[in-house]
Amino acid sequence: MMIGIDDTRPLAKPAPSPRDGLSPRDFDRLAAIIESHTGIRMPPTKRTMVEGRLRRRLRSLGLPDLNAYCRHVLDGGGLDGELVDLIDAVTTNKTDFFREIDHFRYLMDTAIPALSRLPHHPGRDRPLKIWSAACSTGAEPYTVAMLLLEQERAGTPIRHEIIATDICTEALATARMGIYPADMARMVPGPFASRYLMRSRDPDGATVRLVPPVRQSVRFGRLNVMDPAYPVPTDMDVIFFRNILIYFDKATQKKVLEKLCGHLRPGGCLFIGHSETITSMDLPLKQAGSAIFIRS
Ligand SMILES: C[S@@+](CC[C@H](N)C(=O)[O-])C[C@H]1O[C@@H](n2cnc3c(N)ncnc32)[C@H](O)[C@@H]1O
Repeated sequence: MMIGIDDTRPLAKPAPSPRDGLSPRDFDRLAAIIESHTGIRMPPTKRTMVEGRLRRRLRSLGLPDLNAYCRHVLDGGGLDGELVDLIDAVTTNKTDFFREIDHFRYLMDTAIPALSRLPHHPGRDRPLKIWSAACSTGAEPYTVAMLLLEQERAGTPIRHEIIATDICTEALATARMGIYPADMARMVPGPFASRYLMRSRDPDGATVRLVPPVRQSVRFGRLNVMDPAYPVPTDMDVIFFRNILIYFDKATQKKVLEKLCGHLRPGGCLFIGHSETITSMDLPLKQAGSAIFIRS
């Protein structure tokens, strides 16, 4: 319609669109689904964070807003098809190379020498088995891989197998590529960076890539620690389970740790995050250092 110049009526303001957020009821329903599948607690304080992350799903699904997302997932039978992406969207994958570096010092200087004195001499007569059980984008298991490659360079190789698992498929895809923002490379000490990192093909130099020997040292797989059983050997020598317990309530923490203990050999070593505590729990573990435990 043409608007004549003598049409001086003010243009009607568009009606304010309702806030594109999650209603408390929808948030609670999503939170319950997330917690029951992953163990990750979703208190109401996480609502804005969840909304922000789920908005990124709208375009892929061709949906206009979060209400449509909820109708699709919660009422329209779309949950099964969306579950993996929903979980990917709400996990927090913060990680770093050489994060909580004391743990890596302890691993190389104390844990591995002690383990190598145990029956069957892990590292010599059989591979030393290391599991990073919430590996995110891989910085943790790759840090271990670089340290063991250094050991080999020093002429004292340690036979080993590193497996790394996480629930988040996007994080695992990044881990398998071994390509990281250059910012993350700053945490890799100079001599390690010069040997194990290469500039990736990215023309503006914003990313780095791990060299093939590091990438090939780690086997990645998707594993939800809430699953009733883990397809992982029961005689792991070392398990890293760091910076994940904080997302679980006490009962879930204990349940998951009991299962992990079932995969750790006696004398094996468990690392948790420095901000996490399990000392009040009745578990077959003896504390050996800050956030370091030995399986009894
Ligand atoms: C903050 S990151 C910690 C990464 C690494 N361990 C570190 O300390 O740098 C927590 C990881 O736990 C994973 N996670 C959360 N719930 C999980 C579950 N139920 N099973 C397996 N992984 C889970 C997330 O996807 C995320 O990558």
